[in-house]
Amino acid sequence: PLVSTAELVSTAAAEHRGVAAFNVITLEHAEAIAAGAEQAGTPAILQISENAVRFHGGGLSAIAAAAAAVARASSAPLALHLDHVVSTGLLYAAADAGFGSAMYDAAKLPYEENVRATADAVRWGHERGIWIEAELGRVGGKEGETPLDAHAPGVRTDPAEAAAYAAATGVDALAVAVGSAHAMTERTAALDHALIARLRDAVPVPLVLHGSSGVPDDEIRAAVAAGMVKINVGTALNSAFTGAVRSFLANGPGVVDPRKYLAPARDAMAATVAGFLGLLRPAV
Ligand code: G3H
Ligand code: ZN
Repeated sequence: PLVSTAELVSTAAAEHRGVAAFNVITLEHAEAIAAGAEQAGTPAILQISENAVRFHGGGLSAIAAAAAAVARASSAPLALHLDHVVSTGLLYAAADAGFGSAMYDAAKLPYEENVRATADAVRWGHERGIWIEAELGRVGGKEGETPLDAHAPGVRTDPAEAAAYAAATGVDALAVAVGSAHAMTERTAALDHALIARLRDAVPVPLVLHGSSGVPDDEIRAAVAAGMVKINVGTALNSAFTGAVRSFLANGPGVVDPRKYLAPARDAMAATVAGFLGLLRPAV
């Protein structure tokens, strides 16, 4: 069923476990995430980024409607989230497209401007019952950033500033920079677990880890134990998907029907999803 991000994140936080949010680019992504969540027997968040919306010609409704339909048909609880929104026009379209939550990304702005823009986004969201995540610090590695930024560990989030930011903006969750970077294809990131614990103690809202594809399994488990709640994963799904397509086509040069290679690619992605979800169960 389609559930809300607010509900999944607050339940996960109360139970001291993580909830994973996976990036959806195509219909097959949504189907693979639903299949992986069903295999793992856990909820998950389907998130569509502004970059993915741009890939679909700028229109929000088709891919959002497809992901929502996949969520409604699934036996796993799945939420729909709009990720890394920079344009307020797109944010304002989220309410009508069925999103119960959005990440408003003003992390590139200087602190005061980030606070002002995010507070406006939160006010807008809360008037409509939309849960808003924001970012403080710089996770880095997003497409279009300068090569210097790519895969750099980013500018770490300061706990005192994060507490002030959460109070000044009223955000529902906070993405923080603690050593991960976006778009890593190797799982070699080392997180600052002491910083995560300090942020958890200083910030009253759930913390979000971006760029989790590059974070090794035990580092993700430790991050959740230290207080991370929403764990965002994108690139690892694309690596699994594209790797399966590549090997299928290498062995079948005569293949024409896309279903022949999309099916194993979707299966590989579902297995990756289930693997990440398995890390987030509460420690026994
Ligand atoms: O918001 C999306 C995530 O931060 C995904 O990052 O593609 O590096 O896993 P990733
Ligand atoms: Zn991100």
